Amino acid sequence: MKPTLATLLATAASAALLLAAPAVADDVEDYIDFFEPLPALPPIPAGTTMSPERIELGRMLFFEPRISASGVISCATCHNPALGWTDRIPRAVGHGGQVGERNTPTVLNSGFLEAQFWDGREPDLEGQALGPIEAEVEMAMTLEEAIDQLNEFEIYREAFAEAFPDVDDPVNPPNVALAIAAFERTLNTPNSPFNRFLKGDRAAMDEQQQRGMMLFVDNGCVACHSGPILSDSMFHRFELPGSTDEGRFVVTGEEQDRFAFRTPTLLNVAVTYPYFNNGSVDNLHDAVNLMGQQMLGQDFEEDELDDIVAFLHALTGEMPRIEIPALP
Ligand code: HEC
Ligand code: HEC
Repeated sequence: MKPTLATLLATAASAALLLAAPAVADDVEDYIDFFEPLPALPPIPAGTTMSPERIELGRMLFFEPRISASGVISCATCHNPALGWTDRIPRAVGHGGQVGERNTPTVLNSGFLEAQFWDGREPDLEGQALGPIEAEVEMAMTLEEAIDQLNEFEIYREAFAEAFPDVDDPVNPPNVALAIAAFERTLNTPNSPFNRFLKGDRAAMDEQQQRGMMLFVDNGCVACHSGPILSDSMFHRFELPGSTDEGRFVVTGEEQDRFAFRTPTLLNVAVTYPYFNNGSVDNLHDAVNLMGQQMLGQDFEEDELDDIVAFLHALTGEMPRIEIPALP
């Protein structure tokens, strides 16, 4: 449609209004306190260390397909560094091409989570790490076989001995878990526009992203998406259209946990599509719309959705610079 004089005048008037209105950045200061910038490292559990040798061993194991029955699936198959450390498919494809029940979450910043997996069945990365090796739909290998595989290589026997000095027979399952977890705790994404903004660089987010941040607070997203990675690590009921996954209920058997899922991080969410526990939503606009309706009983206007999505894009940080190991 050709603009008429009237619409041109109206546009000019609203532009003037916008200019006259206080710059967004003025009241945005009140919102900073709702957030915490991302620290360089997550909390390190008592009794574990992050020695360079341990991180290095963890890096090798993360990329090692020999600890899968097929010999071709590693952690990095599904948590692919080139794809936001996830797989960009709705539900994970593992051993023998089997499709799992759930979407692969990113491992970026996962050391900050206080509950691992969509249903929180493991408390920490050490507890999490051995599950996928044994899972029939993931890597499908017994831990005994995995240890035998690794023990065949001098380079692994050495790497374990360096990562776990003063231990007899250091090539064992608990040490595999400790090494992988140490490596994962280095996979953090600092310096996102949002983080720079929180730390004082108020030019790091544009006005639309700032409006989105304010909507995120005003509408209560921050009630669950809180803390340094925008997850409270708690469980909330969320009924995805078409999903039969009962979530946390599978772990606890408690009625209140039926269809409850752990809040995922929102850091890097723009690059970790598709979304939700079964990966059924492929874009942020629809994901935010569904969150508004289900979690907040709120139907957002289109421009509000656009602002919130723009804010979510500001959560993409610097990807860890990991060298792909040369495996034996
Ligand atoms: C076949 C694909 C696949 C492989 C291989 C795989 N994962 Fe996963 N990973 C997943 C899926 C799917 C989930 C979510 C499962 C659930 O919540 O029930 C997950 C969850 C996780 C989580 C929890 C993240 C969160 O937000 O809760 C971590 C950490 C993780 N995997 C690390 C690893 C490690 C380490 C390995 C290798 C030992 C590995 N994964 C191998 C698909 C895979
Ligand atoms: C009551 C707690 C709660 C509130 C409020 C909430 N969320 Fe969520 N959010 C969750 C949970 C739990 C999930 C995971 C749901 C699932 O997949 O089962 C989630 C998932 C998401 C996802 C998908 C992330 C992914 O990687 O799959 C996005 C995006 C998101 N929320 C954004 C928002 C926004 C924006 C708001 C405010 C409009 C909001 N959330 C409000 C708890 C909440």
